[in-house]
Amino acid sequence: MSHARESIVKGVVSPLRDVPKDIGRPPYVGRKRAPRWSGGDVYDAETVEHIRESGRIAAQALVEIGKAVRPGVTTDELDRIGHEFCLDHGAYPSTLGYPGAAGRPPFPKSLCTSINEVICHGIPDSTVIEEGDIVKVDLTAYKNGVHGDNCASFIAGEGSDRAKQLVEVTHEAMMRGIKAAVPGRQVNVIGRVIEKYAARFGYESVRSYTGHGVGPAFHTGLVIPHYDAAPYHDDVIEVGMVFTVEPMLVDGSEENHEWNDGWTVVTDDGGWVAQFENTILITEDGPEVLTAP
Ligand code: MF3
Ligand code: CO
Ligand code: CO
Repeated sequence: MSHARESIVKGVVSPLRDVPKDIGRPPYVGRKRAPRWSGGDVYDAETVEHIRESGRIAAQALVEIGKAVRPGVTTDELDRIGHEFCLDHGAYPSTLGYPGAAGRPPFPKSLCTSINEVICHGIPDSTVIEEGDIVKVDLTAYKNGVHGDNCASFIAGEGSDRAKQLVEVTHEAMMRGIKAAVPGRQVNVIGRVIEKYAARFGYESVRSYTGHGVGPAFHTGLVIPHYDAAPYHDDVIEVGMVFTVEPMLVDGSEENHEWNDGWTVVTDDGGWVAQFENTILITEDGPEVLTAP
């Protein structure tokens, strides 16, 4: 597998950004662990409207950040744009201070920036974006007590045909997974559709990171795999449910490992990765995207 660009290495993380006191913080900020959610994944209309508002802010932030992705820009600059966008819209950037695994530090930034072979959870830092990079930006906004979570892949500059195909196929895989989320089916139908579509192009779908229930909790405990998990993950899709669909497709093997920063996840073979994510609501007529700008 040959790519022009060198492997991604850790850069320098800038000082913590402030959040004004009047912006409501999620309950996990400053705690060792996120409190466990026991409220289920089906919400009333008022809560759904709040998730829609958080989702819209998160989606609009991605649009603004996407305009800034180009060679020469640091991932820290993307973080600054996303952070300020959230604050300007009365939202807290959900990843800032999100607790890590036991003994690991909380996430220190307001969004995740994951370039090329970085699958997810990349920490914005002094890394300079280069021509042809696939830059995944994952931003979650918290307002009125609920989260809206989304991610998009941007190519810096022109990009190779190979990178462009990976990004396009990943977007289409997400959309097909979303369309399969019909009431009465098991959630494992979503990953089955995604994995099958990816395989047509020789891509593998990451198994160790999944979609999730989202709303009053960032991660509710409901798991949405992006591979065919049947007969497991047999939760039945219901009207009023809210969860994410966020496939990560690899141009290579999906086997992966985490850096010793406790967050950054990279492919073992250096294969490049694209990801898209939407927060969706299940309605009687089928799925509806809540992270729409
Ligand atoms: N937004 C990511 C997701 O889709 C979670 C990021 S958690 C962080 O679930 F701590 F890494 F930021
Ligand atoms: Co998510
Ligand atoms: Co996300």
